[in-house]
Amino acid sequence: MPCLFGDADQWKAEWRFQWNTFDSQTEVEIQICDDELKSPGLSELTRSRVTAVRKAKVDHREQIRSVLAPLLSGSSLTLPALELHRLASTPANRTLPYYASYVARDWSWGEAENQASLALALRALGAGVRVDSLLVLGSGASRLAVDLHLACEAKQTIALDYNPLLILAAQSVLAGNTLDWTEIPIPPISHAESTAATSCALPKTIAPGRLAGFRLILADALKAPFAAGSFDCVVTPWFVDVVPQDLHLLLPSINRLLKLGGTWLHFGPFGFTGPSPSRRYSIEEVLEIALQSGFSLGVPVSEELPYLRSPTNPQKRTELVHSFALKKLAEAKGTEPPAVLPAWALNESVAVPIVPAYVNFAQSTQTTLQILSLVDGKRSLAEMADLIASQTKLDRASVLGELRGILLAIANRSG
Ligand SMILES: C[S@@+](CC[C@H](N)C(=O)[O-])C[C@H]1O[C@@H](n2cnc3c(N)ncnc32)[C@H](O)[C@@H]1O
Repeated sequence: MPCLFGDADQWKAEWRFQWNTFDSQTEVEIQICDDELKSPGLSELTRSRVTAVRKAKVDHREQIRSVLAPLLSGSSLTLPALELHRLASTPANRTLPYYASYVARDWSWGEAENQASLALALRALGAGVRVDSLLVLGSGASRLAVDLHLACEAKQTIALDYNPLLILAAQSVLAGNTLDWTEIPIPPISHAESTAATSCALPKTIAPGRLAGFRLILADALKAPFAAGSFDCVVTPWFVDVVPQDLHLLLPSINRLLKLGGTWLHFGPFGFTGPSPSRRYSIEEVLEIALQSGFSLGVPVSEELPYLRSPTNPQKRTELVHSFALKKLAEAKGTEPPAVLPAWALNESVAVPIVPAYVNFAQSTQTTLQILSLVDGKRSLAEMADLIASQTKLDRASVLGELRGILLAIANRSG
C-alpha cells in the first residue's frame, strides 16, 4: 500500500497513537460491561443486552486490529513528548471510530445510498462522460471512487485518504476478502438488534477484473503528491468542508492538480464547522471562490439523499447534497484567504474574549495535568480513583475506568 506522506513516520506514529487510544478505551468499556454484569440486580433481558454489547466491542476491536495490522507491525515509533498534548486533543474526525461505519455503508448495507450518490454525481458530471484519469481526495472507504472509476471507464483512478482504517479496509475488500464488521446502534431499534454484525465485500456487480487502473493510496490530500496537471478530473466527495484549509487555498490546489480543461467534481453538503463565521461558505460563495480560482461557472444539482442509514440504526438521516462539475479554464492565481484576524489581534488594547476553544483547551490540559500530578510512583489506580472521587463527588467506578483509559493511552503513546 503506497504511503505517500512527506513524513510517513510521523503519520504512522499518529495513527498508532489513535489505535492505542481506541484499544485502551475499548478495554475500559469492556471492563465496565464486566463490572455491571456482576451486579445482582440486572434483569435477564438487560444481562443479555450487556453481554451482546460486550461481545460486539471485543469483536469490533479485533476487526479493526486486523485491518490495521500492516500499520501496527514493525518497531514502534515515538513522537517528542511535546506532541502529546496535540495528539490528546485530536479532532474527533481524526480518531479511529469516527468514520468506522463508512466501511459497512460502502461495502455492506449501503447499496441504496451508494447508488443514489453515484447517480447524483453522474448527473453533475453529465451523462455518458468518460474520464481518463481520476483523483478522489478524501475517498474514505472508497466506494464512490470505485463506482465513478467504472461509470467513467477511467483508465486510471487514484483514491486518496489519510485514514488508514478506511483505506486498508477498502484494500482488503477490493482484494476479494470479506470483512466482518460489527456495529452498536445507539439507540437500538429493538433488543434483538442491540448489536449488528455485517459482512463487507465487493458487490457481485463489480467484477475484480474491472478494477484495473484503480489504486488506493494513503496520503495527505492537502499536500497531494502529484505533479501539476496530472488529472482529467479531481473529485472531492464530502471533503471540502471537513478540512481545516480555507477554500481560497484549497481550490487553487485542486486546480493545480488538473489538466487545463479538466473537471473538479464536487459532491456533498457545505457543512463548514470552523471557528470563523466568514469561512463557513454558502454554495454561492463556494462557486464565487471557484471562479476566482480558475474554474468555470457551474450549475449545481442538489438532492436530499439518505445518509448512513444502517438497517439497525433508527435515526434515518437525510442530507441535502450538492454536486457540480466545474471546468478548469485557467491556472489559478495564488489567492490568499481574506485575513479574518479578530479585533484584539489587530489592536492590542482590545480585550481578548473568552472563546470556547480556549475554555476547552484549558480544561483538557488542566485535567490531564491533574491526573498526571497524582502519579508519584507509589499510588495505585484505586488510590488515585479514591482521591479524585472524594474531591469531586464523581462516581468512583467511572473515575477508575476513565483513569485507566487516560493513563494507558498516555503510557502507550509515549512508548
Ligand atoms: C466526511 S468523510 C467522506 C469520506 C468519503 N468521501 C465518503 O463520501 O464516504 C471525509 C474524508 O476525508 C478524509 N480526509 C480529511 N482530511 C484529509 C486530508 N488532509 N487528507 C486525506 N484525507 C482527508 C477523512 O479521512 C475522511 O475519510
